[in-house]
Amino acid sequence: MAREIGIGTISLGWMGTLHTRAYRRLLDHYPECELRPRLVVAADTVEDRARDAADRLGYEGWTTDWREVIEHPEVEAVSIAAPNYLHKEVAVAAARAGKHIWLEKPCGRYPSETYDIGEAVEEAGVVSMIGLMYRHVPVVEYARELIAAGELGEITHYRGYFLADYAADPNGALTWRYKLDGAGLGVLGDIMPHSVDMAQNLLGPIESVSAQRETFIRQRPEVPEGMGTGHFVVEGGDMGEVENEDYVGGLLRFESGVRGTIENSRTCVGPHVRMSFEVNGTRGALSWDFQRLNELQLYRTDGTGDRGYRKVHAAPGMGDFDRFQPGAGISMGYDDLKVAEAERFLSSIADGRQRPASIRDIVSTMRVVDAMDRSCNTGRWEKVEEPKPARAPDPRVATGERRMGGDE
Ligand SMILES: NC(=O)c1ccc[n+]([C@@H]2O[C@H](COP(=O)([O-])OP(=O)(O)OC[C@H]3O[C@@H](n4cnc5c(N)ncnc54)[C@H](O)[C@@H]3O)[C@@H](O)[C@H]2O)c1
Repeated sequence: MAREIGIGTISLGWMGTLHTRAYRRLLDHYPECELRPRLVVAADTVEDRARDAADRLGYEGWTTDWREVIEHPEVEAVSIAAPNYLHKEVAVAAARAGKHIWLEKPCGRYPSETYDIGEAVEEAGVVSMIGLMYRHVPVVEYARELIAAGELGEITHYRGYFLADYAADPNGALTWRYKLDGAGLGVLGDIMPHSVDMAQNLLGPIESVSAQRETFIRQRPEVPEGMGTGHFVVEGGDMGEVENEDYVGGLLRFESGVRGTIENSRTCVGPHVRMSFEVNGTRGALSWDFQRLNELQLYRTDGTGDRGYRKVHAAPGMGDFDRFQPGAGISMGYDDLKVAEAERFLSSIADGRQRPASIRDIVSTMRVVDAMDRSCNTGRWEKVEEPKPARAPDPRVATGERRMGGDE
């Protein structure tokens, strides 16, 4: 018998409004879900956005103080889509208040903040869902099954990319994403978690890394008063310092013996959002690119004599594809992945069975990110280590110490 669950949302930028749309669409795609989201209250410090939550997005109430969302007695589950500098404070407070959390990556500014959130979630025993939604792409789920079933033979190579251009314009404003106290890490926090999670989701744990970083655009225009957040261009403003990296590239050793490379950039002109991977085994290979969400490239040395990749279309039977479209060749989109994530969140709460990606998955991811960060500093291979909760701000936040790469 279905019951209502009270939802609160903290921050209504891109991700907060997307979480909201996902809740609103949930029952269209998963009618049997035991929990029916009731949008109780949403918060944003920009009052127009908060008001809009009630006027347009369907929340019963709005506030400019995120604490009121967590304290609301009818809120049982909280979506946290705030900038990184708020993740730890908000997520720990929500978990301690006994609220289930759907938290956006990277879950803090530095791995130590992610570990602290992990500890609070484990102690409170609440359900967690993390915004690592590329896992829920149907052809990616199919790729994972093929690899696990040994269809590609023994896996030997992996290449993962997240090559983006969202920061390629030198006049892109110096928002919180470029600041140590706002975002913490640069691409290591912003997009590397997606690449690392995908690599481990497909091939299991990474055991050591060697990485390098660079900041190609070292100054950007300051954000004019009242402009808020998001990505936007400022012409002719005062310039300020970028405090974190634009680029990280590295080598990977997986526990299984697979060898790989990984490359992330936010200033890469050409590809827009090339979140992609290629996996090679002894009996076949596959590759996927987010910009061709519904297609998997698959090659099997299956005795036909054909050499080369075939295009495999997303189709019913792969992941949750048939929740969204009735037949192969009809495309799913980005927002659909968040509906699938909302379903996993609420179903985990309903039956107490935690589905991925949970706080444990992002802790595992951030251990690899931490090793990459260390390797960028030491220039050596670094092992992936056990998490060390900080319970205090990462010293870089306090001292403003920057690591940019290159010749500094
Ligand atoms: N899963 C993904 O692929 C994905 C994609 C984009 C962003 N994200 C993550 O989502 C988070 C938000 O990113 P975004 O792109 O939506 O950012 P955004 O800049 O579009 O929105 C941030 C919102 O937070 C609000 N805010 C700031 N301070 C606040 C406070 N004290 N209380 C309440 N609200 C406050 C801002 O007014 C703004 O509306 C980030 O952590 C980012 O890493 C994840």
